Amino acid sequence: MFKPTIIKAAEAGAKVMQEFFHGQFKISNKEGINNLVTEADHASEAAIFSVIKEDFPDHYILSEEAGELVMDSSYKWIIDPIDGTVNFAHGIPICCVSIGLEQEGEMLMGVVYNPFFNEFYFAQKGYGASLNDKKIQVSSQPSVIHSCLVTGFPYTYLDQPNGPLDVFARLIRKGVPVRRLGSAAMDLCWVAAGRFDGFYEHKLQAWDSAAGFLMVEEAGGRVSDFAGRPYSPYQPRIVATNGLIHDELLQWIRDGQ
Ligand code: IPD
Ligand code: CA
Ligand code: CA
Repeated sequence: MFKPTIIKAAEAGAKVMQEFFHGQFKISNKEGINNLVTEADHASEAAIFSVIKEDFPDHYILSEEAGELVMDSSYKWIIDPIDGTVNFAHGIPICCVSIGLEQEGEMLMGVVYNPFFNEFYFAQKGYGASLNDKKIQVSSQPSVIHSCLVTGFPYTYLDQPNGPLDVFARLIRKGVPVRRLGSAAMDLCWVAAGRFDGFYEHKLQAWDSAAGFLMVEEAGGRVSDFAGRPYSPYQPRIVATNGLIHDELLQWIRDGQ
């Protein structure tokens, strides 16, 4: 019932991204250094909204740029109109639309669409995850030291003790490859697709991870906070892995090795 709408909405946002990508657009700064928002973010958001509002005018919407459209509904659409805006603004095609649909606190469905790579990720609770309609699954790597990981850095908060830079340095010093793509939604999908063995980040918002965390779970992985508790996109910390390295990676993040 919701699948056609979520697909149409992601396609509408991605079309806007493509239209703006090679042209000129206005860029402004939000809180923090180089926390950008572009005309394309707003235009993508408007295109996504119009699809959702047409099909489900009574549903609640939480979206990065517009904020909350509070409605008395058990359904909530959680939208990042462009995840990876800094990449987008620099002409780096690692960016995507991310849309999750939640019902009473449970993520039902998620879509992440990167039109530049022609990668359309879809997950539905209990029905698995796919990339361009082919089932995907997480990797089978059993140890952190042989893993390829990915992380991201917030626009503020970098230098806390055991914060993003400390954990990154600890892993890099031990020789573990840790990539930084600049799009949390892509990071999560690439864990789901088995390209990365794990992802962690210290400070995400619900719209960054809503669709991507379901993708990892439905591809057979595990997602938690830093204490190993089941993940909620309404708290900032995330560890998403193939499941096999999860407890070990939690250790590395919390205390080092
Ligand atoms: C950002 C990206 C990035 C993550 C930041 C997010 P935005 O989202 O997901 O990978 O490290 O924390 O804010 O601003 O490009 O939508
Ligand atoms: Ca984001
Ligand atoms: Ca965004």
